[in-house]
Amino acid sequence: MKKSNSPICMLTCYDATFGRLLDKVGVDIILVGDSLGMVVQGNKSTIQVKLKDMIYHTQCVSSATENSLLMVDMPFGSYQESPEKAYANAAKLIEAGAQIIKLEGGKWLANTISFLSDRGIPTCGHLGLTPQSVHKLGGYKVQGTNPKNANSIIDAAKTLEENGVDLIVLELIPAELGKKITQQIKIPTIGIGAGVFVDGQVLVLHDILGLNFGHTPKFVKSFFSTGNTIEQVVKNYINAVRKKEYPNLEHSY
Ligand code: KIV
Repeated sequence: MKKSNSPICMLTCYDATFGRLLDKVGVDIILVGDSLGMVVQGNKSTIQVKLKDMIYHTQCVSSATENSLLMVDMPFGSYQESPEKAYANAAKLIEAGAQIIKLEGGKWLANTISFLSDRGIPTCGHLGLTPQSVHKLGGYKVQGTNPKNANSIIDAAKTLEENGVDLIVLELIPAELGKKITQQIKIPTIGIGAGVFVDGQVLVLHDILGLNFGHTPKFVKSFFSTGNTIEQVVKNYINAVRKKEYPNLEHSY
């Protein structure tokens, strides 16, 4: 899809009913995100999510999906310690139905990515704002806004690619930085608050359905009022991503 300049459409999902719907309407990638810690469990961050929670929700979603690629987040504490521990935990998610696993972090993850990749586990990186590091980052802030920080994100993307990562999610970075990274690597980039010049977009399902009760970041767009059914609302999100109508300047940094 990157080669043919066809935008990739991704949404989060945590249960079988929505899994069936997203799969049916043609979402390319379904992400069982650790955002379930906030959306489903009501926590203030993703940090409290356990591996057993990710396994449970992966089983729920994978029971209902056929065509979409099923990506699953590795939760906080399940992959940082060593490549061996990351492999053991990733294997549990793959057994539960994951087809690719996502890990947050930069260059320090290179060995783990290559360890997993050599052993047949596809991986997605996650750069920019990495919510599991919210305390270290000092909040949910836009990343890559100064040249040093921007270059370190670009370097990390290249290093992860060299080590076998298959895809990279870019979160909360300036649109111009999203564009630079996307041009400088061969694998696809999926943005969330990273502007329109990336290879695809991801949002939290509940956000596009207008089910957001707290502070809403400016990259979020509710499609709720665009359709009469949930199915139509999701289709409208897909179309907006495919036509590059979402995100526009108002959703970008
Ligand atoms: O957990 C999640 O939902 C995510 C994305 C929104 C990229 O990681």
